[in-house]
Amino acid sequence: MKIIAFAGSNGSTSINRLLTKKAASLIAKHEVEILDLRVYDAPIYKDSIEDRGIPESILALRKKLNTADGFIFSTPEHNGFTPAFLKNILDWLSRIDRKTFSDKPMLFMAASPGARAGKSVRDNLRPLLPRWGANVIAELGVGNFNDKVVNGVWDADLLAELKQNIIHLEHLVSKQASELI
Ligand SMILES: Cc1cc2nc3c(=O)[nH]c(=O)nc-3n(C[C@H](O)[C@H](O)[C@H](O)COP(=O)(O)O)c2cc1C
Repeated sequence: MKIIAFAGSNGSTSINRLLTKKAASLIAKHEVEILDLRVYDAPIYKDSIEDRGIPESILALRKKLNTADGFIFSTPEHNGFTPAFLKNILDWLSRIDRKTFSDKPMLFMAASPGARAGKSVRDNLRPLLPRWGANVIAELGVGNFNDKVVNGVWDADLLAELKQNIIHLEHLVSKQASELI
């Protein structure tokens, strides 16, 4: 079984990428692959571009997502909303079909430098992720992120919470796999 971890950020020093990498490092039972969404960037959605075909990067991303049995996902919040970079990729993926995440279990997170822990973007994406086929099995908002990872040392409570969520995700990925046999 494979879990794919990715952040909805195109930032060069993304805290959400750091969080997904940490969560991925806690995976014990399954294979894990970390995706950098910047590799799959695409022009802003436009019907005249789609008329010439869905961008190769989006087709490649969808093919990659299809190989996952579960997901770790963390998103930034931009002006109380989903970042345009991520929204654009999700828009393009939705032009393929509505099953981007194939009904596989997902740990859904948001990290922010401020205290609100990406509450607005989580409120925004929570009802939408299932529309794109994500089975969100847990949600974690991490506020004041830069106080929680200091000189590479992770806050013990955050680490414990991450571990609990990863155990839960791994369990459901295994369960789903055994139900398919
Ligand atoms: C255009 C823009 C808008 C932002 N709006 C918000 C916001 O609404 N809420 C928030 O908590 N942080 C906001 N931030 C700060 C981001 O949370 C911060 O840049 C964070 O590091 C982004 O995540 P990343 O490092 O994973 O890209 C904003 C940043 C930018 C560049």
